[in-house]
Amino acid sequence: MLTNTLPVKCDWKIEELRSNIAGIDTKVPTLDGTLKPYVFLDNGASTPALKHVIDVMNDFMPFYSGVHRGTGFKSILATKVFDEAHGIAGKFVNADLEKNTVIFGKNTTDMINKVANRCQWQGEDVVITTLMEHHSNDLPWRKYAKVVHLPVDDRGYVESESVERAFEQYKGHVRFLAVTGASNITGIVNPIHEYAEIAHKHGAHIFVDAAQLAPHRKIDVLPDSDPRHIDFIAYSAHKMYAPFGIGVLVGSRDWFCLGDPDAVGGGVVDIVEEDFVAFSGPPASEEAGSPNVPGAVALAAAIHTLEAVGMDAIGAHEQELIAYAIGKMKEIPGVNIYGPVDESEFGGKVGVVAFDVEGVPHAKVAAILSAEGAIGVRNGCFCAHPYVKRLLQFDECMAKEITEEILDGNRSRLPGMVRASFGCYNNREDVDRLVEWLHRIVKGDYIGDYEIDMRSGEYWPKNFEFDFTTYFPHFQFRHRSFAEVYDEAS
Ligand SMILES: Cc1ncc(COP(=O)(O)O)c(C=O)c1O
Repeated sequence: MLTNTLPVKCDWKIEELRSNIAGIDTKVPTLDGTLKPYVFLDNGASTPALKHVIDVMNDFMPFYSGVHRGTGFKSILATKVFDEAHGIAGKFVNADLEKNTVIFGKNTTDMINKVANRCQWQGEDVVITTLMEHHSNDLPWRKYAKVVHLPVDDRGYVESESVERAFEQYKGHVRFLAVTGASNITGIVNPIHEYAEIAHKHGAHIFVDAAQLAPHRKIDVLPDSDPRHIDFIAYSAHKMYAPFGIGVLVGSRDWFCLGDPDAVGGGVVDIVEEDFVAFSGPPASEEAGSPNVPGAVALAAAIHTLEAVGMDAIGAHEQELIAYAIGKMKEIPGVNIYGPVDESEFGGKVGVVAFDVEGVPHAKVAAILSAEGAIGVRNGCFCAHPYVKRLLQFDECMAKEITEEILDGNRSRLPGMVRASFGCYNNREDVDRLVEWLHRIVKGDYIGDYEIDMRSGEYWPKNFEFDFTTYFPHFQFRHRSFAEVYDEAS
């Protein structure tokens, strides 16, 4: 019997989620010497964990054990939990688990690489993708095929007639249409089922990057026999309140039986002889090595919670919140918002608002929000350089000049925006703090003397450092300047 176990809760309401977020009341230091409650508006990168998810993991930990082939009670229990988590992750997108397999990996990026690595490519193969993609749904395909980017319009929407046009242009060669379910910059939700129908009509598969869609919207991949069926889909637990490292890939079981696994080693075989290997079927053959069992438990607990709240309720709450945020932000002089800004379009937009402030570099806006407003956002190109440049209407010459500067180690003119991204637990007070600080930035009503580090392109107020040791005493932090951090990373 489990000890210390919370009663299994399955009647979650959206109002309960905020108090269930780990660290929701955390106060952080700011430049004026005060502690302010942290406003987390970087959910598009990674969400905080639900306390319920942590509780479920804690309940599991006394039973933690390696999975598959262990004969002890704990290993058998852990195996059942791990296998069950696959089913939960597949059902979350309404996959037919007779025909499809659910593969766990590190994150969405890992899963997209797997599909690209596992495809049986031929000479002139083409992958059609969009200019809107995160690099994770672009670069893995470039390793194997000619990648064609569908253009987007000034507001960031994929030009609808371009899909058919591209299939016609590359007739007979297109293997995949690889599209994002929702943009991590404009929040635009793509009509993935319409795209699926077009792809299938032309004999191609559709892959959907659901990293930004899964936390915000109900997903239904539809039956495999439906022309609008989504063949392959991937999403990440760390964007769904379970940041313990699981990426999910759902796709045709038969497809993963073709060819050899991309990563080989322990756990992927039926039998190995000195000169012979027989691989087991998916998912085991696609999950080489010892898997992340607690991460799978956490993902399943998060899915249970989101499903109990209802993805429709989550979508409606976030839609109301972005309408409130964009309404307020539109009133701030000098603030430009990218992507849809008209309330009638918000049904097709997830909780992401990308913006900039005229006359203030994006990195400086983000630094002021952090150092003085205690607001966590993100700035830059958000791993979607081509899309950001297009939205900013960057001219080719300028883009080339800046590329040269960056290659020379000077990132001071790095193009970019600021992104506020909302989760299901954010509320109007979070928006109000952002809006208050944007007004202050526009008026120059901040106290820091911000300086740029040319190599990283980051701004920070002179003579101000966070004392992290007070907040996380388990590590002794070594102070590193932006330049040092950047040098280490590059
Ligand atoms: C649209 C989109 N696709 C893919 C990814 C990559 O996800 P992960 O970092 O979990 O691999 C992200 C991450 O932000 C994303 O926003």
